[in-house]
Amino acid sequence: MMELLDLLLLLSAFLFFRYWWRRWSTTGGVPKNLPPGPPGWPLVGNLFQVILQRRHFIYVVRDLRKKYGPIFTMQMGQRTMIIVSSADLIHEALIQRGHQFASRPADSPIRLIFSMGKCAINSAEYGPLWRTLRRNMVSEMITPLRIKQCAWIRKWAVEAHMRRIEAEARENGFVEVMSNCRLTICSILICLCFGAKITEDRIRIIESILKDVMIITLPKLPDFLPVLTPLFRREVKEAKKLRKTQVDLIAPLIRSRKAYVESNGKINENSEMVSPIGAAYVDSLFGLEVPSRGKLREEELVTLVSEVISAGTDTSATALEWALLHLVMDQGIQEKLYKEIVDTVGKNGVVLESDVEKMPYINALVKETFRRHPPSHFVLSHAATAETTLGGYTVPADASVEFYTAWLTEDPSVWENPDEFRPERFLTGDGVDVDVTGTKGVKMMPFGIGRRICPAWTLGTLHISLLLARMVHAFKWLPAPNFPPDPTETFAFTVVMKNPLKAMILPRSF
Ligand code: HEM
Repeated sequence: MMELLDLLLLLSAFLFFRYWWRRWSTTGGVPKNLPPGPPGWPLVGNLFQVILQRRHFIYVVRDLRKKYGPIFTMQMGQRTMIIVSSADLIHEALIQRGHQFASRPADSPIRLIFSMGKCAINSAEYGPLWRTLRRNMVSEMITPLRIKQCAWIRKWAVEAHMRRIEAEARENGFVEVMSNCRLTICSILICLCFGAKITEDRIRIIESILKDVMIITLPKLPDFLPVLTPLFRREVKEAKKLRKTQVDLIAPLIRSRKAYVESNGKINENSEMVSPIGAAYVDSLFGLEVPSRGKLREEELVTLVSEVISAGTDTSATALEWALLHLVMDQGIQEKLYKEIVDTVGKNGVVLESDVEKMPYINALVKETFRRHPPSHFVLSHAATAETTLGGYTVPADASVEFYTAWLTEDPSVWENPDEFRPERFLTGDGVDVDVTGTKGVKMMPFGIGRRICPAWTLGTLHISLLLARMVHAFKWLPAPNFPPDPTETFAFTVVMKNPLKAMILPRSF
């Protein structure tokens, strides 16, 4: 016991001197002109003040913003976090001076295990590796031509989705929206990555392992106090074990696809491979040479395809659940949407991808969902490429710069009755001029803006609009009698409904 205390004291002393040294000596004894922020405790800064509040960081920040304004600092252990929340400063940092704020901060040892040392688009530092990986993804996966070519994947997954929810409703009397949407989106993304139709059981396993990866990579004490890393050896060991499980699960799919591509389509175990050669995301990675690493190894491919599946699943499923909540709670909105669908394809037609692009009400509804319920209240952590200033304050190169974007859509000086869910605002009201890419100005940014904007935002929006249109065309959605819809939110990677939505569905053909 004494030994542990001695060790902690020693570590604390070391931490203190390191902290003191970094904060004072580099500026010749003058403190850096960091943005203001809540006074912290010695050594640990605001870290334990946040932990002791026992609520998620986003709620702590929501309160601090009121006190400290559009740019403030939180000293989270050894990590300096600069929180930026005003439209003007966000636009300045991410658009006008985009290249200066386009990097990512250092990663914890556990995150490095899963990213293979930052070999993923989302975690790579701003530089040639990130540029090559991102450019490849955009040109191989997100072009309008490729999206069109892969339309059959969504058709297949959406049809399976409709059968599944109908069966679930017959069995239970209601449909659990989130779990079904997650599974369907996940199956679409897996097929886009590998060009393979795999069984629902296998999809569920991949979905569950990737969820475990997300949990294990959540920030922990050593992320803020790296000096404590040696005390977290067990967690690192567990992470390595989980990484092995992830690789064992995903690598066989990569190998099957490689065999299929290399044999020119002749080797096709279980006839799983269905996308033509070149149409799957992983095909583009087989021959890709990236700066400083050369040809990508199998484990790096595992990281890159897992990134796509993780990045696209929760975000889209969350938006679908919130959208359906409002359709269930406000039948007037649902009727308007249904009318638009029937006016476009008729009662018995099939909604195609080309149809949803032309439907203004569904587009307004999806935008209002992103405005009222942004899946993430922050974009991913950014970092400055070199020490710079913002809003008159210093932003050190090793600080995490966190853009608190949820505030933008809660601001009553920008949005009329911001708490109200009203898709019409995007047709004739305060949302008409919104540009989600933020180029002209920032009123909402569910996908981030600037150089790090979600590269797949058009694809994500398409998945949501198409599923929503197909679900509302086929069924009338009503509250399930014993499960009144509850809009209380909670944080689970994205901001989701605390009590997942359960809805009753009535086939429209009756
Ligand atoms: C509707 C669903 C989606 C939402 C709301 C969403 C949102 C976001 C946000 C907020 C970011 C961070 C931007 C920043 O750090 O500034 C991001 C990054 C990213 N997203 Fe999405 N996303 C969605 C769907 C997808 C899909 C379907 C994919 C893949 C097919 C994807 C792949 C990525 C990647 C690779 C990044 C990292 C970009 C970079 O660092 O350069 N996302 N997304």
